[in-house]
Amino acid sequence: MIVVMSPQASREQVESASELLRSRGLIPVSSTVAGVTVLITEGTDGPELATVLESAPGVDRVVTVSGSQRLTSRVFRPEDTEVALGSAGGAVFGGTGFAVIAGPCAVESPAQMNAVVDSVVASGAVMLRGGAFKPRTSPYSFQGLGLAGLTLLAEQRKRTGLPVVTEVVTPEDVKCVAEESDMLQIGARNMQNFELLREAGASGRPVLLKRGMSATIEEWLLAAEYVLHMGNSDVVLCERGIRSFERGTRFTLDLSAVAEAKRLTHLPVIVDPSHSTGKPHLVTPMSLAAASCGADGLIVDVHTDASNAMCDGAQALDSEQFSTLMGRLKPVVEAVGRTLS
Ligand code: E4P
Ligand code: PEP
Repeated sequence: MIVVMSPQASREQVESASELLRSRGLIPVSSTVAGVTVLITEGTDGPELATVLESAPGVDRVVTVSGSQRLTSRVFRPEDTEVALGSAGGAVFGGTGFAVIAGPCAVESPAQMNAVVDSVVASGAVMLRGGAFKPRTSPYSFQGLGLAGLTLLAEQRKRTGLPVVTEVVTPEDVKCVAEESDMLQIGARNMQNFELLREAGASGRPVLLKRGMSATIEEWLLAAEYVLHMGNSDVVLCERGIRSFERGTRFTLDLSAVAEAKRLTHLPVIVDPSHSTGKPHLVTPMSLAAASCGADGLIVDVHTDASNAMCDGAQALDSEQFSTLMGRLKPVVEAVGRTLS
């Protein structure tokens, strides 16, 4: 159950609604979303309590949700949430547009960043990606440039005026990553790092939440719930492939999860065709399919010298492939009634 207080509700009215819930054995957890206080309970006490609460002073409405989702649920918020980044006309996820984020998997050097960024901007990317803190399977693999990488990414943000997203892997780093970027990426491997989710939520920065490689749709949405519960509703979900028996692709891109997540939640959903397939020749077909099934955008790995890339070079598109992808995407995006932003 979600008790939505009116924006003018006094502290006493919030406390009295909470007390009413407690008197029925429910434990309310309070959260403030977009300036509105909501009281969330795990269970419900039947329709009679909702009626009583709805006439209590300071209560705007009561939403009874049946599953475990609360603030991420379309029942709570039927209309699509739009997450806008950058200045006017920047990247908007969840509206009528379709936004493409592109850049290298990892930030490597000023020259590499200049080359890749120039190429993706020329082809129409509206937001840049680049990892400074890389979550690698092996401790001997390149771990990212860390703070120096963040600085290089921030330089590209300043040079191009485009918003940037980069991964944060520990709660302690949230503050500095939030200062240097427009959006915090929480990667597949950290999707259920609850302290990281809470800290990212508290930062107030928009969050790009990738689906864990073994996470169900419900677990993914409940991970997002942690961020919303901290009062931050600027969350974009990203399907990036799940583990299956198939070894011909790096992961198995679950496009049905995109359509299902869009049905269950008001949050925008984008697709990562690079990490999911691991193969450049699959990136374009999966991107077109993502646009067709209702995704709100893409995040694509691009490198101008992929054979020497320090991370995931095998899945990166080169400049020409990315430009071709953007050209092919436009009519598909328009065919489903949207515009390539
Ligand atoms: C890059 O974005 C990730 O850190 C990478 O996909 C992790 O994979 P690996 O360390 O298994 O190569
Ligand atoms: C990434 O996008 O840099 C990344 C590490 O992706 P994922 O968390 O999906 O593996």
